Amino acid sequence: MADSIYLLNRNTFGTIENAGNLLTIEEATTLLNDWVDNDRLRLHMRQVAALMKAWAIEKENADEKTALKWEIAGLLHDADWEKNPNYHCRIIIEKLEKLNIDPEVIHCIASHGPKYFGVEPENEMDKMIYMFDELSGFIHAAALIRPTRYEGMDVKSITKKLKTLSFAAQVNRDDINDAVSRINYSLEEIIQFIIDHQPAVK
Ligand SMILES: [Fe+2]
Ligand SMILES: [Fe+2]
Repeated sequence: MADSIYLLNRNTFGTIENAGNLLTIEEATTLLNDWVDNDRLRLHMRQVAALMKAWAIEKENADEKTALKWEIAGLLHDADWEKNPNYHCRIIIEKLEKLNIDPEVIHCIASHGPKYFGVEPENEMDKMIYMFDELSGFIHAAALIRPTRYEGMDVKSITKKLKTLSFAAQVNRDDINDAVSRINYSLEEIIQFIIDHQPAVK
């Protein structure tokens, strides 16, 4: 989620000596719960984390540690949004740098909105967090109005809703189109992946 311009004015994050340093899921969840009170926002980050992990394993053949890297980036990407709306991304980045976390995790978080943070997604992990961020929330909104939620949801109903600008109007369609233009998968494939892997609405 990002709805303003929060340019970071930098392109390197963390230091290479910290490559491989990750939080455990328990540590990342504690940080998330300490910083974020809003259940909806916590759910958004858990959903993006689950999608990142599943994508890393299924599409990137990631080992356990690499999958954890993707998952942690998803789990913390909006952690500072609620308490520091004017410095979104900057605060969580500084926190992870202080904790000596793997620079790829930090760069990934910084990549989740190129036009907002001024950081271009570089690797697949960066591109996929950008891809999932808005679309995950959009499909969540679509699930909320269906009695069976994700069960039986079809891709066409989502592409149709994307063209209906009044539906989930806060979701930026330009960001979704820009994100999909950067990867080698179609919008339909990504939508299907989210329907299949997004944790059910609680
Ligand atoms: Fe965000
Ligand atoms: Fe987000």
